[in-house]
This record gives sequence, C-alpha cells and structure tokens, in this order.
Amino acid sequence: MRILGTGSAVPAFTLENERLTEFLDTSDEWIRTRTGICSRQIMTDETVLQLGAQAARNALENAGLTAADVDYILCSTVQADTVTPSLACLLQKEIGASCPAVDINGACSGFVYALDLADAYLKAGKAKRMLVVCAESMSRIANWTDRSTCVLFGDGAGAVVLDGGEARFRANLTSDGNATPLYFNVHSGNSPFIEHGEEMQGLYMDGPEIYKFAVSHAFSGLKEVAEDEDVAIDEIDHFLLHQANKRIIDAVRTRLKQPEEKFPTNVAVRGNTSSASIPILLDEENRKGRFHRGDLLAMSAFGAGLTTGACILEWTRE
Ligand code: ACO
Repeated sequence: MRILGTGSAVPAFTLENERLTEFLDTSDEWIRTRTGICSRQIMTDETVLQLGAQAARNALENAGLTAADVDYILCSTVQADTVTPSLACLLQKEIGASCPAVDINGACSGFVYALDLADAYLKAGKAKRMLVVCAESMSRIANWTDRSTCVLFGDGAGAVVLDGGEARFRANLTSDGNATPLYFNVHSGNSPFIEHGEEMQGLYMDGPEIYKFAVSHAFSGLKEVAEDEDVAIDEIDHFLLHQANKRIIDAVRTRLKQPEEKFPTNVAVRGNTSSASIPILLDEENRKGRFHRGDLLAMSAFGAGLTTGACILEWTRE
C-alpha cells in the first residue's frame, strides 16, 4: 500500500494556555512542563464535516487526483456532527465522491486501524484507491471543568489518499476492552422505559494510568512491528507518534535510543487531536519536504478501548 497524498485542516481559533487560566485553576507553566502543549485549535463555528472535507480536498490535491478517482472512503472519528448518517457519507457528498463510505471508531488509534483496513481492502482488490479521513472534535466531549483533561485536547482533521501499489506496510493492533481509565458515556436518551437516566458527564481519563500504558505499549508496539517487518529500529527514518503529550513521546524515544530529529512533533501547537493527530503531523511533515522516496515511517497510537496501533510504512513519493 502506498500513500499518494496527504492533507489536513484545523479550526481558525487558537486557544492559548493563558486563556484557560481564566476559568480553570491551572497555569501556562504547568501545562507546558507536564504536557509540552502551548496552544491548540478549537472549533467555534466550524463543523467536523467541514474540517474533514477540507483535509480530504487537500489530500486529493496533493495526490493530483479528484474525488471521482476514489472508490472507498473510510472516516475515523470519536465524535462527528451526527450519530447517523456517518461522517463518511456526509463527506462523500461534500467532496463530490460517489463510492462506499463508512466510519470507524478506534479512538486515538483510529488512523492506524484505518490504514490496516485500507491495506486489506486494497490487497483484496476490493478498492483501487481509498481516502482515509480522521476528523475529531475533542472539544465537544471534553469536560471543561476538569483541568486534568480539557487542557490536553484540540480539534482537527487529517487525511491520506492510498492505493495498492508496491510498498512496505505492516500494522499490529491491540484492544483490551478496558473502559475504566478512559471513557465518554452518552446520556441515556428520553425513552419512557428508562427510569433513572444519566446525564452526559464529559470525557473521563485517569491520566497517570494512561501515561504508563502509553509509554510501555508504544515502546513494545514499535519494537514488535519492526521485528515482524524485519526492520531494525535504527533503520526507521521517522517516528510519528500520537501527539498526546511530549513527555510520552520523549520517554518512548529515549527507550528506543533514537535521536530527537527522528521524532517530529506538533503537540505544542495542536494539542491532542485524537485519531487526527498522526495524519495531521504526517501532512505537515510531508509539506515541509521531510520525507524522501524509500524512507521508512513508523507510527504508534494509543487510546480509549484501550486500543493501540503500530505500523511501518514505506514512503514512495519523491
Ligand atoms: N493545572 C494545574 N494542575 C493540574 C492540572 C492542570 N491543568 N491538571 C492536574 N493538575 C494537578 C493534579 O490535581 C495533581 O495535584 P495534586 O498533586 O495536588 O493531587 C498534580 O497536578 C499532578 O497530577 P498528575 O495527574 O499526577 O500529573 P501528571 O504529571 O501525571 O500529568 C497528565 C497529568 C498530563 C494528564 C499526564 O498524566 C498524561 O499526559 N497522561 C496521559 C494522557 C494521555 O495521553 N491521554 C490521551 C490518551 S487517549 C486520547 O488521546 C483520548
């Protein structure tokens, strides 16, 4: 499977740490030192569909293709504008495509899950070119009274156009069905048959627990996928990790004994955009001309589920 083009889009409003101190007992210094985040983009009047469609258009343009060239659309989202129809169906119309379109929810690991599904579809010959779009609105589900979680998140979308051309790709995925440390429950609706409905509480996260999980699983996941693909860690040119916390990224890099320049980050200015975080970073690095034909990219994500995904992918563009 090859990446033919990348794209991304973020909301116009940038929320600086300092602004958060107006309504939370927090400080710019705490957020910067514990997470590496200085600012993030938050939706105001944008929709997830608009961000996803913009990222998709950018990826198609980057690939030199149009929506008509795509024969399957896969969207990854935790929180779209609608529960149904899917984001993928709305996005299909928005960009002018006419092909099957469906959403998946692998939480923050969604991009790696989507790549793995796309690879299987392309290998099976069920699609020739696929569009993967990860579009997230974490600001909608964050608990804005909980200083330990809401400061972490940003909104945005990232997209890739893929085909089944010859290039190395391997993904390893896990999920363990442990909802305790990280969840967001929807309210129970207005069914007359439910006596004690529950209100929505916003996202809950046990930060320290997720931190430990993230560091150990990102490290082991990258080692395992590299071993399975018969690649030495030193041979990998770029490590694109889920942009949740700079300290997590640094801890994984140190354990892998790799130099900082192999680990691009944008968490300082984007925050954690869930499944959109890796494709946004991928697009930004692509547009800076950082990747060269034959480079090996490793990606690693973790999120609610708990899910993890690690993959190795060969860059085939010039
Ligand atoms: N400002 C000031 N103080 C704060 C803030 C804040 N924003 N948030 C928490 N604190 C306080 C806590 O109340 C605590 O105070 P106490 O010692 O008086 O009890 C103290 O800071 C330390 O809190 P910890 O939670 O132990 O801080 P930690 O160093 O672990 O950092 C953090 C917290 C940033 C959440 C970290 O645990 C982390 O990054 N975890 C991983 C989170 C993550 O990656 N989530 C994404 C995964 S899934 C997804 O993407 C949806």
